[in-house]
Amino acid sequence: MIELVRPTVDLADSWWTMVDAFGAEVIHGSSLRAEDRGRLRDPAVFAVWVDWLVEQARDDVELPEGRVPSSYRWVVDADRVVGTVALRHALNPALLVVGGHLGYAVEPGFRRRGVATAAVRLALSMASARGLDRVLITCDPDNVASARTIERVGGRLEDERAGSCRYWVPTGL
Ligand SMILES: CC(C)(COP(=O)(O)OP(=O)(O)OC[C@H]1O[C@@H](n2cnc3c(N)ncnc32)[C@H](O)[C@@H]1OP(=O)(O)O)[C@@H](O)C(=O)NCCC(=O)NCCS
Repeated sequence: MIELVRPTVDLADSWWTMVDAFGAEVIHGSSLRAEDRGRLRDPAVFAVWVDWLVEQARDDVELPEGRVPSSYRWVVDADRVVGTVALRHALNPALLVVGGHLGYAVEPGFRRRGVATAAVRLALSMASARGLDRVLITCDPDNVASARTIERVGGRLEDERAGSCRYWVPTGL
């Protein structure tokens, strides 16, 4: 059963197994920057980073320029981290064009099993609980897997801006 779990050091081993499986691929919705992958292997540094991920959900937290409060979740299947989801609580002008409310990724070896569909559905419930009646999801025009996932959860294409397809998805609120 797919669950969305708040980032926790308890899942560190599983998290790094997933990160390694992505190789050089960007992990959407993880907030993990390529340049930080090395230093975060230190458990103490990782613990601080995990706390920071969780902190960013607070609407009163001070964030770097251009960032909005966000809920990060790890997609877990039977105690194994297999993906990531980020729910941005609000849109700023940049996210309204590219980025949207939701970012997500599934580890390559776990794709095409419905993991993203289940995870995005759970993220839509989180958005609904936060009072959002619809969320914006954007994806590259050639990202068939993401476009299909968005359509599976009820997304409707609004338009294409700055080379990104923009879909609105009702949350069920
Ligand atoms: C996009 C992504 C999250 C999809 O994850 P997933 O767990 O494989 O998705 P699902 O198994 O839930 O599949 C959802 C739908 O997409 C379809 N799909 C998935 N991968 C596909 C592919 N490579 N080509 C065509 N269709 C694909 C599935 O068949 C399914 O549609 P269906 O139910 O009509 O058959 C995954 O491919 C990924 O992590 N990609 C890289 C990161 C990314 O692009 N994130 C989104 C940023 S906008």
